[in-house]
Amino acid sequence: MTGPITTSRQGDVLILTSDNPPVNALGAAVRQGLQAGIEEARNDASIKAVVITCAGKTFFAGADITEFGKPMQEPSLPVLVDAIEALDKPVIAAVHGTALGGGCEVALASHYRIAVPSAKFGLPEVKLGILPGAGGTQRLPRVAGVEFALELAAKGDPVSAAQAQQAGLVDRLAGENSLLADAVAFANEVIGKPVSRSSERPVTVDPAVFETFRKTNAKRFRGFEAPATIIDLIEKTAGTPYAEGVQQERMGFMKLIMGTQSAALRHIFFAERKASKIDGIPEDIKLRDIKRVGVIGAGTMGGGISMNFLSAGVPVTIVEMAQEALDRGTGTIRKNYEATAAKGRMTAEQVEGAMGLLKPTLNFDDLAECDLIIEAVYESMDVKKEVFGRLDKIAKPGAILASNTSYLNIDEIAASTSRPQDVLGLHFFSPANVMKLLEIVRGAKTADDVLATAMAVSKKIKKVAVVAGVCYGFIGNRMLMPRQVEAMKLLMEGATPEQIDRVHVAFGMPMGPFQMSDLAGVDIGWHRDPTRIENIRDALAAEGRWGQKTSKGFYDYDEKRNPSNSPRVAEIIEDFRKKTGAAQHEVTDEEIVERTLYPMVNEGALILAEGMAQRASDIDVVWIYGYGWPVYRGGPMFWADTEGLKKIVAGLEKHGFEVAPLLREKAEKGEKFNK
Ligand code: 3HC
Repeated sequence: MTGPITTSRQGDVLILTSDNPPVNALGAAVRQGLQAGIEEARNDASIKAVVITCAGKTFFAGADITEFGKPMQEPSLPVLVDAIEALDKPVIAAVHGTALGGGCEVALASHYRIAVPSAKFGLPEVKLGILPGAGGTQRLPRVAGVEFALELAAKGDPVSAAQAQQAGLVDRLAGENSLLADAVAFANEVIGKPVSRSSERPVTVDPAVFETFRKTNAKRFRGFEAPATIIDLIEKTAGTPYAEGVQQERMGFMKLIMGTQSAALRHIFFAERKASKIDGIPEDIKLRDIKRVGVIGAGTMGGGISMNFLSAGVPVTIVEMAQEALDRGTGTIRKNYEATAAKGRMTAEQVEGAMGLLKPTLNFDDLAECDLIIEAVYESMDVKKEVFGRLDKIAKPGAILASNTSYLNIDEIAASTSRPQDVLGLHFFSPANVMKLLEIVRGAKTADDVLATAMAVSKKIKKVAVVAGVCYGFIGNRMLMPRQVEAMKLLMEGATPEQIDRVHVAFGMPMGPFQMSDLAGVDIGWHRDPTRIENIRDALAAEGRWGQKTSKGFYDYDEKRNPSNSPRVAEIIEDFRKKTGAAQHEVTDEEIVERTLYPMVNEGALILAEGMAQRASDIDVVWIYGYGWPVYRGGPMFWADTEGLKKIVAGLEKHGFEVAPLLREKAEKGEKFNK
């Protein structure tokens, strides 16, 4: 046999081995090879059992996502898994790495499952906006119970081999280094016994489980289409014969895969991976060695940034100017780790391990031992230049010097050193130990290996990184600005903060612009002069309405931080409307979308045309991972594509915006941002 599946024999056992790097996706050639192997086992009386296993780093990680939307080549995965299960000789799935999606379904259709302890099992289809479409929703509840099936299929997070074994999904654990031998031994034990087919097992269902599951996860599933279908399918397993259930599963799969949400989620899957590729830099470029990281500033950002490295096992030297600030900073880091440990997500030893890697110091010269130094001090160009000037004198040759600025010009900062090639921006998002996004800002003189090293470091600390060019606010904050400006204008023209926030939340954002202001602090960037009141925000700040931290901002907050509409804010807005004589009109929800979200797309088009982002999908990644743009809408640029660029242009024109030339050009040519 040629292709990714090879067959071999050990006594009476036929071994089917897949070798389809990088993740053994179940593409057409793999499916055809497996089908042929099963056929061989059926026709050859000397074969008494079959082991299905994979070479390389993992068991089948699922269907081949790149085949979606293309003509299906036979056999389809549902047909293949049925053929595996139908064989009347025992089939053993021997699992290492990750048995995900279709891979987990192949394992479920096999009659026995053996796995190494480090293996993981999962049905992540929901994260691609689809559902397990090869019997997963019908076989898993029969094998491991409905509650386990709900967790796996509706949430999409993988479980360990031990958890899978406890649930009955794994029959036996193999030695970490003896999977194949253990699988063959297992096969020899079960030869001649009647095969146990997952689809024939009975299933018991407690209806209350489903109601509770739906309620408990309502927030997590808000806006997503696939989870509800998955839950319904699992709920039906009890009263429905397998053949009928699996047919309904197929119909649900087809419907979801043709929908916009699935297209958006698949777009983001690939966009996230593409973002790590830097145009024009060879993938095998020699990287700089980062053994110790320095962080300047132990405030909220500096502390959060440090935690990323400590958690990844990289020693951190953290510098402050005063002992008190240093103690407060390290104290907060410890408190955060201990809170994680209290939730059972870290052991006490891991907490001590991470803290043991932290070296707090007041001596700036200690940064001389660091290979990457990240400055997280006050956001002022003068302060940053001073810090980088000092760094230049003490950092070792070849050390990477990074600024965590959110807006400032990296080239200007780099110019205060004698080594601008070693300088770049690393813009973390708050809270820096939690938020996945990292904007890597490439200065005009940043060396290729410095950029590539920063990208590799971002992977080590489990961030999703995107390369941005030097411009005010980079990608994310630059696009946020027009949105905030329009939101304020809309208030003046007749909208309320509640209405604008409601429209954004209904769109799928975690919060609207005013809720976000209250969370971040209405006083951020405020001139601090209570007598100078030039806009609504000045008026709020002057009255101490600084947001959640003072229990009042655009909303009033109770002790539990529950917001309520503020009559005082309504008065302030009304005052300003009168003072400025702003024309009033009935603001519709549609107008809010057109005036706050379309300008973001417009700004995105400018960013792209200026080369400040490498590709439209990078912009989408920034907004999904940095600002909570609903992932099922695929990011602002993908969303614009689904809305239709002509419609976006018309909307912008209607409201008097200057349309970005690239956006207009694409609309006129009938093109999209994401091909
Ligand atoms: N199909 C096609 N390509 C895939 C793929 C898949 N299922 N899974 C991963 N890849 C590709 C990635 O795009 C990437 O390509 P690149 O090198 O060109 O960028 C390459 O494989 C390596 O992937 P990662 O960078 O993600 O490698 P990691 O080692 O970090 O992670 C993984 C490995 C955990 C397997 C991760 O890739 C993953 O989660 N994959 C997706 C799994 C999934 O969603 N499976 C369900 C598919 S849908 C399905 O099965 C439907 C069925 O029910 C009918």
